[in-house]
Amino acid sequence: MDIKIENILALLPSSEEDRAFTPSNTDIYIKGRDIAAIGDAPEGFTPAKIIDGHGKLLIPGLINCHTHSYMAFMRNVADDLSFDEWLFGRISKIEDNMTDEDAYWGAMLAIAEMIKSGTTCFNDMQMNIFMTTKAVKESGMRAVISRGLVGSGDDEAGLNRLEQAYRERDAFKDCDRLSFFLGPHAPYTCDEAYLKKIAAEAKREHMGIHMHLSESRNEIENCRNTYGCSPIELARRTGLFDSHFIAAHCVQIDEDDMDILKKYNVNVVTNPASNMKLGNGFAPVPEMMKKGINVCLGTDGAASNNSLNMIHEMSLAALIHKGTHLSPLSVSAEDTLKMATINGAKALMLDDITGSIEVGKRADLAILDLKQPSMQPVNNPVAALSYSANGSEVDTVIINGEPVMEGRKLLTIDEDLIYSENEKIRRRICQ
Ligand code: NI
Repeated sequence: MDIKIENILALLPSSEEDRAFTPSNTDIYIKGRDIAAIGDAPEGFTPAKIIDGHGKLLIPGLINCHTHSYMAFMRNVADDLSFDEWLFGRISKIEDNMTDEDAYWGAMLAIAEMIKSGTTCFNDMQMNIFMTTKAVKESGMRAVISRGLVGSGDDEAGLNRLEQAYRERDAFKDCDRLSFFLGPHAPYTCDEAYLKKIAAEAKREHMGIHMHLSESRNEIENCRNTYGCSPIELARRTGLFDSHFIAAHCVQIDEDDMDILKKYNVNVVTNPASNMKLGNGFAPVPEMMKKGINVCLGTDGAASNNSLNMIHEMSLAALIHKGTHLSPLSVSAEDTLKMATINGAKALMLDDITGSIEVGKRADLAILDLKQPSMQPVNNPVAALSYSANGSEVDTVIINGEPVMEGRKLLTIDEDLIYSENEKIRRRICQ
């Protein structure tokens, strides 16, 4: 659809070295799926739709770089428990009873929540192939999907999961909003031989890798006991870092780990809410940024957060490191917005098409209502996003040039149906 967004305050990329965003009052022209022009209209442009941007803020759509969307129906089922009790005592048991259809409705609920808080792209690790992908395709979302891989050596189940990952990738190759990574789950659910196998497969298939790494102290201790090294070193020596790599968490890492991450251009997703909620600690985000590691932001699943709201996550990322480092300079509001947009796009190998408001990129955009008490007066819109907004200010969302929400009404998703289906799942397997 050809759309003109008129007279809007837009966070455009800055040409100045000392800042990343320039707030500018401008017009945006969307032709098909792309941003065709900023400022002056392209020749012969006749919009099918005009959005009045007066009193609104246009931001690049947010990118949630680590989540498990199917888990949305597990929101608030397992709280204030130890990690082992949470995962093995509660979550795994619900997952054992979960059907493919449950995963689909969970993913739909997650997508509704993400769109309503300004997210236009997410990086998912899932177990039920064809379910999250179907939800992404139907909802108009953009996503990178990894089939979670667990296994040991050359066992058949592990190899089957790899085959499933390829089958799903091939089945959705015509959807330009979907791309696929391989998803070895974690060093404690994949043994070294299986990790080596995945590393070789990723190289052969030219696929990126998405994995949980160095999340908890227990994981580090077990890895050192089993392999005599840290999870980061294990990933390096199995060859996983020879492919494009996105590591979720990296909470319990040391200087040597960080040097490896930098050397191999590993992208790190920090998930502050999940890490705090499960008692895993604080990722050394300021230290990683100082080393030049690409740090991006994620919510993790709704069972460990329990929110998929990236604006809430940005607030945490901008605040917690100031507290833990006793320094208000550790992570700025601007750093946080970069993590949630362009850094995420780089991590997902999508920075040529999304992550910033630039001509030629896809129109993946969120429009916030500035006429809300939380956003007034408009002194600094970048600071407002991290420190003042709560997500409910998001009014309109466009993905791949198509409006998916207007006036907070979802256009591609039947909200009531999603709520009733998730309620049925809750009653059946979450009680
Ligand atoms: Ni996770």
